[in-house]
Amino acid sequence: MQKRQLLRALAAALALPALGSVHAADPIKIGLILPMTGQQASTGRQIDAAVKLYMAQNNPVIAGRKVEVIVKDDASTPDQTRRLAQELVVNDKVVALAGFGITPSAMATAPIATQSKTPMVVMAAATSAITEASPFVVRTSFTLPQAAVAIAEWANKNGIKKVVSLVSDYGPGIDAEKYFADRITLNGGQVVDKLRTPLRAPDFAPVLQKVRDASPQALFVFLPSGQGAAFMKQFAERGLDKAGIKLIGTGDITDDDQLNDMGDVALGVVTAHHYAAAHKSPVNQKFVEAFKKANNGMRPNFMAVGGYDGIRVIVEGLKASKGEGGEKLLAAMKGQIFESPRGQMLIDGQTRDVVHDMYVRKVERVGGELQNVEFDAIKAMKDPGKSK
Ligand code: DHB
Repeated sequence: MQKRQLLRALAAALALPALGSVHAADPIKIGLILPMTGQQASTGRQIDAAVKLYMAQNNPVIAGRKVEVIVKDDASTPDQTRRLAQELVVNDKVVALAGFGITPSAMATAPIATQSKTPMVVMAAATSAITEASPFVVRTSFTLPQAAVAIAEWANKNGIKKVVSLVSDYGPGIDAEKYFADRITLNGGQVVDKLRTPLRAPDFAPVLQKVRDASPQALFVFLPSGQGAAFMKQFAERGLDKAGIKLIGTGDITDDDQLNDMGDVALGVVTAHHYAAAHKSPVNQKFVEAFKKANNGMRPNFMAVGGYDGIRVIVEGLKASKGEGGEKLLAAMKGQIFESPRGQMLIDGQTRDVVHDMYVRKVERVGGELQNVEFDAIKAMKDPGKSK
C-alpha cells in the first residue's frame, strides 16, 4: 500500500515537467473586442479583416507558443464591452485587450485594464482623453484634435473665414468641435454656428437646414466611420453643394470604406486624416493589395490600418517580453517606431498615444475610383489634446 502511494507520488512528480511543457505550449491569447454587429459594424469588419491579414502574413510563434486572437462582438454597447473584457481577462487569461470601436467602449474598459494590469490597445476610438483613462492604454488609431487642427490650419491658409461646424454629439465630436474652433479662430476665422447630431440614428435634415440658413463659406464635419455616405447624400439632396458651401472635415467623412460609392458630391471635399488607401508608398501598396485580395476586393479604411498596426504593436511587444503580458508587455509597446501603411508612426513613450503624419487630402477621381488624394501634411504630429 505504502509502496503504491510512493510510486504514485513519484509518477506525479515525473509528470510535472511534462505538464509544465504542455503549459508552455499553450497559445498566447489576445482579446479583440469589436462592434461586429449594429451601427458600427463596418468598423468591426475592417479591423477584424486587418488583424486576420497580419496574423496570416506573420504567423507569430513566441517562446514556442502560438499567438491566438479571440474576437468578441460588443455591438458597440459599452456595458457589453466591459463585460467581455472582464471575461477575457479572468477566464481566457488574455495578455492584452484590443479593438474598441467607439470611445464609450474604450472608456468603460479602461478601469479593467488598470485593475488587472492588462495592456489595452485602442485601434479605433479617437477621443483625446482615452489614453489618460488608464496607464495601460496604448493607441494605434488617431486623435480627433490631430485631424481637426490640421484641417483648421488648411482652412486658415485658404481664405476660409466663416464656418459652421457639425459633429456627432459625444467624445470625439466634442474634441473635433473644440479643436477646430480654437485653431481657426486663433488665425482669424470664425465658427458662426456649432451643430451636433446624436451618435445613434442621426437625422441630418434639421441641421442641414440650419447650415443653409447660416450660409457659411464652409461646413466642417466630424461623423464616426460609417455615417459619411448617408450624410453626403443628404448634403447633395438639399443642394448644399450647389449653394457653394464648401465641405471640409476630418477624414472620417470620406471614409475609404464608403468613399467609392458616394458619387460626385464627394469630389473636391478636403479633409485631414492619418490614412488614405491611396497613400503612395510601397508598404501601403502591398497592404492594400493583400487586404483586397483576402476580402473580396474590400478597400481598407483608417480603421483597418489602426487594427493592422495595433496587432503589430502587440506582437512585437510580446516578442520583446518573451510572451509575458502586464507591465513587461506595456513597456515593450512604448516607444515602438515603424513604417505603417499610413507612413512613419511612433507610440509616444510618455503618453502612449500615436505620433504620425496628418495629411491634408482632396477627393478626386483616380482611374475611375474616388480616392482621398494626399497633397500636404503636418509631419510627426502629436496629439494636440496633450501638449499642454
Ligand atoms: C470614434 C469612432 C469612429 O467611428 C471614428 O471614425 C472616430 C472616432 C470614437 O468613438 O472615438
